[in-house]
Amino acid sequence: MLIALASDHAGFDLKSEIGRYLGELNLPFKDLGPATSERTDYPKWGYLAAQAVRSGECDRGIVICGTGVGISLSANKVKGIRCVACTDCFTAILSRQHNNTNMLALGARVVGVGLAKLIVKLWLETEFESGGRHGRRVDMIAKIEEGNIDFL
Ligand code: RB5
Repeated sequence: MLIALASDHAGFDLKSEIGRYLGELNLPFKDLGPATSERTDYPKWGYLAAQAVRSGECDRGIVICGTGVGISLSANKVKGIRCVACTDCFTAILSRQHNNTNMLALGARVVGVGLAKLIVKLWLETEFESGGRHGRRVDMIAKIEEGNIDFL
């Protein structure tokens, strides 16, 4: 599994910590940037990471800004992306089991490094409960993207 990693300036330090942590877990990742903590706009990084996942270049994406909100909103504008802005372990697990999230957004000003690492680990190791009602609902999300709301 190759993981795309990106942040804005607010998430830069946590991005480095998460990169180190992924290394400890022997999980390959691609740091898409930024390379410095200079002020930068989160939509650019959310988009770049989302495109890496969308294109198949990466399997999952982890993006980090101050709150996790702006960068997740940006990533979610890319077709096929289901990005969860996550601040707790329960959401990390359920967003995988029920929503098949393919991107995780963290808020560096919201969660500490320890919790962020735990969220990353749980989110990466939890499988989607495919088929059944969860599969059907995720398919409905894709239908909305296609402008096909025949389920109403
Ligand atoms: C940057 O100051 C901050 O607005 C950004 O990191 C993020 O929290 C936006 O959602």
